[in-house]
Amino acid sequence: MANRLQGKVAVITGAVSGMGLAACELFVAEGAKVVVADVQEDKGIALERRLGDSVSFIRCDVRSEADVRAAVERAVKKFGGLDVMYHNAASTGDVATLEDMTVEGWDDTQAMLLRANMLCVKHAVPALKQRGGGSIILVSSAAPVALGGSGPYAYTVGKAGVIAMGRFAALQLGPHFIRVNTLVPGGFATSIWSGHVHGDAKLGDEISQNMNMDYFARMQPIPRAGKVSDVAETALFLASDASSFITGVTLPVDGGLTLHRKWEATAEGQLEAVRKSQASARG
Ligand SMILES: NC(=O)c1ccc[n+]([C@@H]2O[C@H](COP(=O)([O-])OP(=O)(O)OC[C@H]3O[C@@H](n4cnc5c(N)ncnc54)[C@H](O)[C@@H]3O)[C@@H](O)[C@H]2O)c1
Repeated sequence: MANRLQGKVAVITGAVSGMGLAACELFVAEGAKVVVADVQEDKGIALERRLGDSVSFIRCDVRSEADVRAAVERAVKKFGGLDVMYHNAASTGDVATLEDMTVEGWDDTQAMLLRANMLCVKHAVPALKQRGGGSIILVSSAAPVALGGSGPYAYTVGKAGVIAMGRFAALQLGPHFIRVNTLVPGGFATSIWSGHVHGDAKLGDEISQNMNMDYFARMQPIPRAGKVSDVAETALFLASDASSFITGVTLPVDGGLTLHRKWEATAEGQLEAVRKSQASARG
């Protein structure tokens, strides 16, 4: 299939790596024009060269209001408007524990996870209204959805806030035909697992290319590793008119991970306990 986004203009944040990159390639293949908003300039420029006129790279730190505003303006000026805001960029932030967290670490992380979402929604809305509607796609995580929460503390709490923001915005913006849906990725082998935590994207890339894929294949009920294309295909659906009556949804793309945290270990543990009690009942 092609042309599912023909005539549409999207801003994708964090689009030079991982899920954002996969979405950018897919959106362009489906006819969209894409503003790539990311802090990694070298990769952004290379991507612009590779994908040609359908892509415009802008250096954008999503924590900065001026940068986010400029990314939306780029879409309007270069491509004539905005139909889709896919705010995907994030890093893990400060991974300190409950007791070790500093105010600075907390605030920095929430600037990335909450302020950035607020800014992307805020600046997209006027442009989307101009078009008579559109689609906003936010990205949470399995971390706050899985039972009891998992993953780093500040990240988990911030990503929980993204879900609340998606639902709030969907309610407010529905009357303007602006849909807001939130993706909940499970575990995917991308750079976020390593380098960005320490501000070293290159190291992150190297580590993500050498990750234990067996781990990623075993963490959820569906026994294969998630692919960034799994998320990109879902984002494409939410960006396209095929989902024009869908808003306020929190949508896991996780092979079933959020059905139960540590599904495999728990299920195996439960089964083992049942096996033992049945064996002892039999004598
Ligand atoms: N990989 C996973 O297992 C996983 C799981 C759940 C949720 N997520 C979420 O998916 C989204 C995409 O992550 P990914 O796994 O593709 O990681 P990734 O590290 O491959 O991509 C993240 C992108 O965001 C960009 N970025 C980081 N800080 C930025 C900033 N301040 N301003 C603009 N751009 C910035 C990076 O340069 C990079 O291109 C994130 O929101 C992440 O929290 C990932």
